[in-house]
Amino acid sequence: MNAPEMNPPVRYPRRAVALHWIVALLIIALLASGWHMVGIPKNTPERAFFFNLHKSLGIIAALFIAALIVWRMRHEVPALPGSMAKWEKMAAVLNHRLFYVFMVLVTAAGYLTSSFSKYGPKLFGIPLPHWGWEDAALRGDFAMVHGMAALVFTVLIAVHIAAALKHLWLDKDGVFQRMMPNWRKPARDS
Ligand code: HEM
Ligand code: HEM
Repeated sequence: MNAPEMNPPVRYPRRAVALHWIVALLIIALLASGWHMVGIPKNTPERAFFFNLHKSLGIIAALFIAALIVWRMRHEVPALPGSMAKWEKMAAVLNHRLFYVFMVLVTAAGYLTSSFSKYGPKLFGIPLPHWGWEDAALRGDFAMVHGMAALVFTVLIAVHIAAALKHLWLDKDGVFQRMMPNWRKPARDS
């Protein structure tokens, strides 16, 4: 065993950092496009454009979310510093676990919303498998679940960002930097 392997990881490896930021940016774009598009008048080219963009970004996000989950199942994450209070550590673990739940829930509910609509799920115009049939009532139910889950997810993201900035500006304990790209040093364990 060489020296670096004897120490626990102190920051997230490059692959995890890359996946985290790709997923984070896609989710922010999905929240923005989702709320924007539902306000656009029906039967307009603009609405069709944003719905297709949203669905395509959602499918791409699903692939990266799957990769993040696989990475997470196969790796230990760096331990939180001992300077953090017990409740803070528990809140961080809960927040991260709920993120995984909501990433899957929101994506699946979005796909189901499209699956029960006449337009169907599409990736940049390419039709994808329907998990349902044309049914306005079911489409409406899944749209409601999708929208409500996206709202709760946004609250969790706001808490997550506030906590990250607390680590950066108040605690100054290096937790923020663990998820930031580190261009200088080569990856040890990605
Ligand atoms: C917007 C969507 C975001 C999602 C879905 C997301 C998701 C996650 C998840 C799932 C983890 C836990 C990784 C694990 O240990 O399993 C994590 C960690 C982290 N995130 Fe985010 N994140 C987002 C945005 C952000 C933003 C905007 C920041 C910075 C301002 C940030 C900073 C961090 C940091 C510093 C950690 C590491 C915490 C630790 O070391 O325990 N995240 N994020
Ligand atoms: C993490 C991923 C996703 C996020 C954060 C997200 C977010 C949103 C948001 C905020 C809305 C507006 C909800 C409202 O107020 O009515 C929305 C609507 C919608 N999303 Fe997503 N979405 C995601 C994934 C997907 C996927 C994968 C699909 C389909 C392939 C999809 C299809 C739709 C559709 C069809 C609507 C319109 C629902 C309606 O007519 O009310 N979304 N999404």
